[in-house]
Amino acid sequence: PKQAVLQNQTVLVTAGPTKEKLDPVRYFTNRSSGKMGYALAEQAALLGANVILISGTDRLPIPQDVTWIHVESAEDMYKEVMKHSVGADIIIKSAAVADYRPKQMFDSKIKKSADRIMIEMEKTTDILYELGKRKKDQFLVGFAAETNHVEEYAREKLTRKNADMIVANNVTLEGAGFEGNTNIVTIYHKDGSAKELPIMSKADIAKEILMEIASQMGEWQT
Ligand code: PMT
Repeated sequence: PKQAVLQNQTVLVTAGPTKEKLDPVRYFTNRSSGKMGYALAEQAALLGANVILISGTDRLPIPQDVTWIHVESAEDMYKEVMKHSVGADIIIKSAAVADYRPKQMFDSKIKKSADRIMIEMEKTTDILYELGKRKKDQFLVGFAAETNHVEEYAREKLTRKNADMIVANNVTLEGAGFEGNTNIVTIYHKDGSAKELPIMSKADIAKEILMEIASQMGEWQT
C-alpha cells in the first residue's frame, strides 16, 4: 500500500550533470548519471508528492507521475529551478552542477593548430546558495560530493548555503557516488546531528532521505 506521507507536498528535485558548451561539438560535463536524483523523484511520487524533476540527462526512463524538465547548462538549470521553486515545499538538489563553464562559447568548431590552448573558465551561479538566500517556508536539501574531509565540507555547505539538510557521499568509496546503483551517504541536520547509512540501493537511500525530510518537517510544524 502507498504511504502518502508527502501528500499535498510539492517536491522539486534536480538530477544529473550539466553540460557547459565550449563550441558546437564539445562540452564540459561530469560523471553524474542522474540515478540518485531520479530515485528521489520516483520515491517522492510514490509517497504521494507532486514532483517536478529538473534533469541534466535524458538517458534515464522518466519515473511515473512526475513533471519532467530537461536542461543542459548550469544556467538553464538555475532558470528552471528559480521558476519552479516558488511553489515548492521541498527542494532536493542532487544534480552535479558544473562549478565553472568556459568563459567564451565559440560559434564554430575550434580547429586543431597550436600545440597548446588555454580555455578560460568562469564561475556558474550556485543554485543551492541562491535558493538558500530566498528561502522562506521551504525545506532545502543539498548534496555534497566529496573526496576528503567529508563531514567538515558537508557542515560548511549546510551553514553557508542555508540548507536544512545535507546528504554527503564520499565519492571515492566503492559502491558510493556517481553512476552505480548504490550509494553510501551520511545525512547532516542543522541541529548538529547526523545519520550514517550503510551501503544501500539508490532507491532505498531515496526513501530514507524522504522519510528524514518528512519527520523534520513534522517537527517544524508542531
Ligand atoms: O547521478 P548519479 O550518477 O546517481 O550520482 C549521484 C551524485 C554523486 C551526483 C549525487 O549523489 C551527488 O552527490 N550530487 C551532488 C553533486 C555535487 O555537485 O556536489 P557539490 O558538493 O559539488 O555541490 C554541493 C551542492 O550544491 C549540491 O547540492 C549541488 O547541486 C549544489 N550546487 C553546486 C554548484 C552550483 N553551481 N549550483 C548548485 O546548486
